[in-house]
Amino acid sequence: MKQFKIGVSQKLDMLKFKNLGQEREKEINKAKIENPTTYRVNELVSILHPSKIKVKVARIEKETEDTKSFYLQPVDQEKMPPFLPGMYVTLAIKKDGRTFKRAYSISGCDKNRSYYRITIKKVENGIVSKYMHEECMLNDLFIILGPFGHFTYQPLRDSKKMVFIAGGSGITPFMSYLQNDHFKESIDSLTLFYGAKSEFDLIFKKEIDEIVSRNPKIKVIYVLSEQKRDDYAYGFIDEEKLLKENLEEKSIFVSGPPAMYFSLNEVFKKLDVPNKFIRHDIFREIPIDLQNETFKLTIKMLDKTITIPCHGNETLIESMEKGRVKTLVHCTVGECGFCRSKLLSGEVKTENASVRIKDQENKYIHPCVTYPLSDVTIEIPIK
Ligand code: FES
Repeated sequence: MKQFKIGVSQKLDMLKFKNLGQEREKEINKAKIENPTTYRVNELVSILHPSKIKVKVARIEKETEDTKSFYLQPVDQEKMPPFLPGMYVTLAIKKDGRTFKRAYSISGCDKNRSYYRITIKKVENGIVSKYMHEECMLNDLFIILGPFGHFTYQPLRDSKKMVFIAGGSGITPFMSYLQNDHFKESIDSLTLFYGAKSEFDLIFKKEIDEIVSRNPKIKVIYVLSEQKRDDYAYGFIDEEKLLKENLEEKSIFVSGPPAMYFSLNEVFKKLDVPNKFIRHDIFREIPIDLQNETFKLTIKMLDKTITIPCHGNETLIESMEKGRVKTLVHCTVGECGFCRSKLLSGEVKTENASVRIKDQENKYIHPCVTYPLSDVTIEIPIK
């Protein structure tokens, strides 16, 4: 075998190579480069979509006898985050040392996103809606989370011919659609059916009429259930009224009380409207039979076990808020999974929860949309 002799220059090369690591380290140290603790892309994301937004009530408008709009301006940033029409925010209020969170659709904003408008109907037993109507003042500060939500127009999925069906305060998500130029340019036609008890209960009528008068693609049909007037349709939004609109190949978005969803679903079945064309906004259905019942809710969290009363007309999260149990909630409408908990015992009714099939099999629930039907024990998995 041929032997190679190592010459002086090769020995010097090896020596240089041996010292290379140390020299490189010296050069790096000289440059004084510090590893970044944040990245610009993350900074931009947290400016555009902060996890919590501190807002100030800049304006309050009475819309109808039991409905008010609140204009929420950002406190620590110039603009509110971008959102798609149909999305909602979660509003957190503090009352008697307890925090209550509820979701409200964004009913509008200006072109600069200098505010979000949310519109709240006063509900007799609604802690947050009553607080906002009776106690909220100009310049009050709140925290909101979001925007969240899937009640959005998706051009790849939805038709360019749209039908919106709103009942009562269910008009709120549609207002952000009607204000959005990009949406209006994207579609070919839109018919809005808007049902209310009387003309005095129609929220935003003037605003809707103005938008419709400026946009020939949009038509509105007001339907009053308790008042007969020549210029309005009378009764409920039913098969007869929908049949006057050709529903073929149209996407139908529905937002209103649960009773309206159920009756319209029957109509859609009868008219053979394919499910892919129907979209519902989030709604809650309180189990009617047990509304006046009070049960026991036992919560296991970390190494603690707490038992509080829970009522048949309140979600488990609402009972926890009242019982001063710290809650883990974001969306409050069953979508985000932040409140995911395991049902250890008891019967419940749960609506609209986006719970994965495997989770359902393993008895995981979203307590923000779950009502008790008996005494209930849940475990909140916190590590
Ligand atoms: S808080 Fe989002 S699913 Fe319950």
